[in-house]
Amino acid sequence: MKSVGVLISGRGSNLQALLDAQDAPGAYRIVRVISNVEGALGLERARAAGIDALTIPHQGKPREAFERELDAALQGCDLVALAGFMRVLSPWFVTAWSGRVLNIHPSLLPSFPGRDTHERALAAGVKLHGCTVHVVTEALDAGPIIGQAAIPVLRDDTPELLAARLLDAEHLLYPRALAAFAKGEAALLEKPLLSAWT
Ligand code: GRF
Repeated sequence: MKSVGVLISGRGSNLQALLDAQDAPGAYRIVRVISNVEGALGLERARAAGIDALTIPHQGKPREAFERELDAALQGCDLVALAGFMRVLSPWFVTAWSGRVLNIHPSLLPSFPGRDTHERALAAGVKLHGCTVHVVTEALDAGPIIGQAAIPVLRDDTPELLAARLLDAEHLLYPRALAAFAKGEAALLEKPLLSAWT
């Protein structure tokens, strides 16, 4: 069983999915939740589940100081799961936690790294959209892929509709990908862990 620290910045619906899926005989246990944003809804979700939840603001301090605080608060965790954490982690942090940080990104990487993925997917006219759980490396949204889930893009989709439908897929994918990774079963870069079509 791997202990996991989750980093969030907002509503924490993916955190909730990870919490809901961690029952015995689970592969992982969430032991700490850290938000860089005070009052984030995800903090309440963590506390409601009886999990240690704290805020480490990033404002008004150098990035290295912020990340050293994160690093200190994560000591004792085997893995770190980013779940809507809206800060880019520096090479220092990524090296310190090398191969132990996962992220969920709302696109089928390597398409649409970065922000505004739903808008960009619609503008590009793709017929499949999706989400990706990957290992965090120094290159933004470009680390080894653990799993992906795909959803069709519908004719009348807006970025909001697409995002809302994709969120359901994210909530299925992330717990499975994290559990597989925690058990050492994630076949990196091999077949997708989960797809809407299988
Ligand atoms: C999700 O869409 C996730 O893919 C992205 O940020 C969003 C977080 O949503 N990284 P939530 O806070 O988990 O509800």
